Amino acid sequence: MTKVYNFSAGPSMLPQAVLKQAQAEMLDWQGSGMSVMEMSHRGAEFMSIAKTLHDDLRELMAVPDNYQILFLQGGATAQFSFIPANILGDKHKACYINTGAWSEKAIKGAKSYCDVVVSATSEANNFTSIPERSTWNIDEQAAYLHYTPNETIHGVEFQDIPDVGDLPLVADMSSNILSRHIDVSKFGLIYAGTQKNMGPAGAAVVIVRDDLIGKAQKSLPDIFNYEKQAKQESMLNTPATYTWYLVGLVLQWLKAQGGVAAIEQINQRKAKSLYAAIDQSALYSNPVAVADRSRMNVPFILSDDTLDKAFLSTAKEQGFLALKGHRSVGGMRASIYNAMPESGVEALIQFMAEFERTH
Ligand SMILES: Cc1ncc(COP(=O)(O)O)c(C=O)c1O
Repeated sequence: MTKVYNFSAGPSMLPQAVLKQAQAEMLDWQGSGMSVMEMSHRGAEFMSIAKTLHDDLRELMAVPDNYQILFLQGGATAQFSFIPANILGDKHKACYINTGAWSEKAIKGAKSYCDVVVSATSEANNFTSIPERSTWNIDEQAAYLHYTPNETIHGVEFQDIPDVGDLPLVADMSSNILSRHIDVSKFGLIYAGTQKNMGPAGAAVVIVRDDLIGKAQKSLPDIFNYEKQAKQESMLNTPATYTWYLVGLVLQWLKAQGGVAAIEQINQRKAKSLYAAIDQSALYSNPVAVADRSRMNVPFILSDDTLDKAFLSTAKEQGFLALKGHRSVGGMRASIYNAMPESGVEALIQFMAEFERTH
């Protein structure tokens, strides 16, 4: 097989070891005679997969006992609407921090359910930095404050958890969950699509504090109701069984790497070397404020954009895939999630230097 490095923003590369294990177990999961895809979700085999999945995520993120872990369908996008529908209760407003395209989508989703107070925005500088906490305008009457810790398209990441007093903090961690240590107890709700740091597409994880459950709007379908799903262990209907299984394998892989603390160090090193290579080059540049740069998604532009096509095609020929930036911002983007080995980032840096030397 050709050796490639896949820098896709998501769905994105999975650890080789996970793919190999899934391949080995494809036809016969642990002597059951069945593929995981063929199992009843109520059967003992799948129930054990589901239990290990939940236990491992709780352990890896040190999720306290007063939080429920849900795996729901509809991706992170469904949560843009179902968060307000579940947790507004008798409140009519929610605060949102706008740091880019994904924040904007979350705001749009919430607007069908409540008044949105945009407490801060970095739109004026094209989402290349995070608004200073001291400038945020927080409405104490709001039900919660939502932010996007890592903006996948713009490559902007919060390095710390913002202090918002008693307001429940809600975070879309789709593109940085499990990439760095976070204290779950500082959040009211964390959610993420599975298709970046956790596995393939097909589910969204929602980690929600008990006191935010049980106030859903009556019109909300049961399968999106956190209380009802929590009671049924996210199996109110048939879950995305194969996705759950693969996420479970990714979590076991992460535990074998030493968990979140160990992968965080690797992620720090990968991002540091790639940004250093970009910063010292005359051809490449990254527009994001240094303190707010993402460790997961590294956008960069070429000073001569007539070279974009040649850059992408040469990269592809040499096995560096999916480096094209999001269509809304152009340029390039290297997504370097947990599964991207350090050797992949080092190889990319060498390729970029060689391309610069020859063009
Ligand atoms: C930060 C962020 N939020 C939400 C989404 C949407 O996720 P989904 O496609 O699972 O709905 C993405 C997808 O890339 C994302 O990066």
